[in-house]
Amino acid sequence: MPSPDTTAFGPDFLWGAATSAYQIEGAVAKDGRSPSIWDTFCQVPGAVDGGDTGEHACDHYHRWPEDISLMRALGLTAYRFSIAWPRIVPEGTGEINQAGLDFYDRLVDTLLAAGIRPNTTLYHWDLPQALQDRGGWPARDTAHAFADYAAVVAARLGDRVTDWATLNEPLCSAWIGHLEGKMAPGLTDLTAAVRASFHLHLGHGLAAQAVRAASPGPVRLGIINNLSTCEPASPSDADKAAAQRADGHINRWWLDPVLGRGYPQDMVDVYSVSLPERDGDLETIAQPLDWIGVNYYFRQIITDDPACGAPFFRQVPGPGPRTAMGWEVHALGLEQLLLRFTRDYGVHELMVTENGAAYHDVVSPDGHVHDPERTAYLEEHLAACARAAAAGAPLTGYYAWSLLDNFEWAYGYDKRFGLVHVDYATQRRTIKDSGRRYADIIRAHRADSTPTAAV
Ligand code: IFM
Repeated sequence: MPSPDTTAFGPDFLWGAATSAYQIEGAVAKDGRSPSIWDTFCQVPGAVDGGDTGEHACDHYHRWPEDISLMRALGLTAYRFSIAWPRIVPEGTGEINQAGLDFYDRLVDTLLAAGIRPNTTLYHWDLPQALQDRGGWPARDTAHAFADYAAVVAARLGDRVTDWATLNEPLCSAWIGHLEGKMAPGLTDLTAAVRASFHLHLGHGLAAQAVRAASPGPVRLGIINNLSTCEPASPSDADKAAAQRADGHINRWWLDPVLGRGYPQDMVDVYSVSLPERDGDLETIAQPLDWIGVNYYFRQIITDDPACGAPFFRQVPGPGPRTAMGWEVHALGLEQLLLRFTRDYGVHELMVTENGAAYHDVVSPDGHVHDPERTAYLEEHLAACARAAAAGAPLTGYYAWSLLDNFEWAYGYDKRFGLVHVDYATQRRTIKDSGRRYADIIRAHRADSTPTAAV
C-alpha cells in the first residue's frame, strides 16, 4: 500500500505511541507503590488468561531509558503514558510518595531531552486498592481523592508537561469493571456501574480544575474515550432502536456530560438508576476542554437482545477480517467517528489517542518480526484519519497503541499490540516491521512539512 497522504495533518501533527502504567511498568512493590485494584483482580482465579499479572510486565520501571531510545528510533514526536496513582498516593489519600513522583520526573526530563512531547494520563484503571476498600468509584469521595492526587502530579510535572488527560476510557472502568465484571474490580451490578460512571465524570471535572490550578506551566487538558460507530444488524425497528441504545451506552453517555449536554435522557430511562447528582455537579463535570481523545478499535454491529439485561443489546460479528482479539478491522469507522464529533459536537481539537491491533507475532529466524497485517491496519487507519482531516476534522495527533507488547488486561500477555515486540522471558525488545513502517511514514511527513513552534 502506498504511503497515506498525510498532507492534511499539517506540520505540527503529533506522531505518537501510547502505553499505560500497569500494562508496562512491572515493579509493583518497588519504591513504595501500593497494590491497585488490578493487582487484586489478577489474583482472582480465572480472571486473567493464563493467570498472568502485571507484576513484571515489560519491566519499563527499570528499562525506560531503553524504551525512550526505541521511541527515538521510531521517530516519535509524542508519547502518551499514564501515571500509576498507587505510586504517588499509595493509600489513595494522604501521604505522598516522592519516589513515585521521581520516577515520572526522570521519564519526562528524558523524553523532553529526546525531543518527544509527553502526553500524561492521570488514570488508566489502576485505582489504589485502599480506595476500593473504601467504596471505589461508586463512592463520591473517590472523585475528590482523584482531584487531590491530580493536583500533586500537576504541581510536580506541570512545569514540563503541557498535555494532560484526566481519564482513559472511563467506559471500561464503569461498564466492564462494574457491570460486566470482566475487569477490575470485577462487579456485575448496574447500580454500582452507573454510580461509578457518574463519579468518574465528577472526578474528571474536579481533576481538570485541580490540574489547571496546580500546574506551574500551561495546561492543555483533555479526556480520552473509547468510541465506536454503532450500526443496526438489520433494518428492523428493534435493531435500529438497539443501535441507538448502544450509541448511548458507548458514545453519548461518555461525551454528552463532559461537553455540557448533561446525561442523555433516553439512557437514564434505560438504566433506571438514579444518578447520585448534587447541585452544581453537572457544571463541574462540564469543564472547558482543550482536546478530546478518541480511542478507536472497531465498529459495533448491534442487535436487540432483551435477554441481555440493560441496555438490552448485543454485538454481532461483522464481515471484515479480524485481529487476534476477534475485533473486526474497519478503518472507515474511525473516519466516521472523527467527522461525527466534529460535526455533531463542534469539538475544536481531536486526537486519536489509541488505535492498533493485536496479532500473533513471533521473532523470525532472521531476527525480525514480520507483521504485515498490523502494517496494513496502521496504513488504513492513518489514511482514514487523513481523509477525516481533509474533510475538516481538527485532528492534531495520532498515538498508535501500543509502543510495546504488554499486559492486555484480562487477556494477559498473549495478545500483542506493540510496534515493538517484547520477549517476556528476556525482556528483549525488537522493532516490528510495522514499527519500521510507522517510522517511514513519520519521516516522510516530517520531511514534507516545515515544523512551526510547538503549541
Ligand atoms: O490495552 C488497551 C488499553 O489499555 C486501553 N484501550 C484498549 C487497549 C487494547 O485493548
